[in-house]
Amino acid sequence: MIVLGIESSCDETSASIVKDYEMLSNIVYSQEIHSEYGGVVPELASREHQKNITYVVNRAIHKSNIQKHEIDGIAVTYGAGLKGALLVGLNFAKGMSMALNIPYVGVNHLEGHLFSNIMENTQISFPFISLIVSGGHTQIWRVNKIGNYDLLANTVDDAAGEAFDKGARLIGLSYPGGPEIQKASVGGDTEYYPFPRPKVKKSKYDFSFSGLKTSLLYKVRKMDDKEVKKNLHHIAASYQEAIVDTLLDRISRISKEEEINQVSIAGGVAANSRFREKAAKLSSDNNLSIYFPPLSLCTDNAAMIAMAGYEKLKAGERSDLSLEPNPNLSL
Ligand code: KG4
Ligand code: ZN
Repeated sequence: MIVLGIESSCDETSASIVKDYEMLSNIVYSQEIHSEYGGVVPELASREHQKNITYVVNRAIHKSNIQKHEIDGIAVTYGAGLKGALLVGLNFAKGMSMALNIPYVGVNHLEGHLFSNIMENTQISFPFISLIVSGGHTQIWRVNKIGNYDLLANTVDDAAGEAFDKGARLIGLSYPGGPEIQKASVGGDTEYYPFPRPKVKKSKYDFSFSGLKTSLLYKVRKMDDKEVKKNLHHIAASYQEAIVDTLLDRISRISKEEEINQVSIAGGVAANSRFREKAAKLSSDNNLSIYFPPLSLCTDNAAMIAMAGYEKLKAGERSDLSLEPNPNLSL
């Protein structure tokens, strides 16, 4: 079965062709326009999606060496995400489904992230623990099987990616902040500034990152620009370490409590090199198998949506034209 995947939930316009579990193409257009604003501007995101979606879809089809009429079905993200941005992809999918007379199915963006890892690491077996860690989410799920998930931990305020993005902005780095902080942290001392590893009262596993960001704010307020620049590598390394340690602390404790030794990490923050390095250490010290998707599938992409959609289409699931974008869709 050949599936066209379409993703437009945030600031990546992406289209992909998968044939069964094989990825034939995955075109990702990342909107640069937001970098000067320090975060995604929703109206600009929708406009950029509209400008680029036809080109991105055509590129994906062309690169996969298939013809349009060979596509059996379309999978499109319909939540969670920015309403206007989601609408662009969803409307495009509906139009194409009618024009080609093929079915389409709405896919949950988070389920897409889950699939980005399951497909690439076929040795993962159920049940496993999944940490979805992106600009919009920081959640830990127990994945019992496809379509059957229990939420074990969630953030009560900012997502980890958001902590990277907001932190980067405070120290004069551009959006998206995660890769910028990672770059700036090279050669920095991870313990130079003792940032907190926040815990949430009355909850064993939930995350809270807003206090960490405030702590960085207070720290840089006491410094002049010259001092911030001079210590940028130490600030970035220490701040990144606090986020990474917090994520690994939850993985470690939850996997013990659930007695599950397979952990899958997905979402943009999974691209972080310090996170991967420390996860590898945790994994070898505790006999845990921690799986990361390849870098190209960490951040938002349509291949993961196409793969999740392939499962749904194969199972006979179809969406009709009344499907609306759902900005707060949960798993
Ligand atoms: O999954 P994603 O592309 O979009 C959302 O669904 O949010 O994740 C984007 C987030 C951003 O917050 C970005 O700063 C973060 O992932 N990110 C990283 C890295 N690459 C992307 N965070 C830390 N280190 C990275 N290398
Ligand atoms: Zn995402």
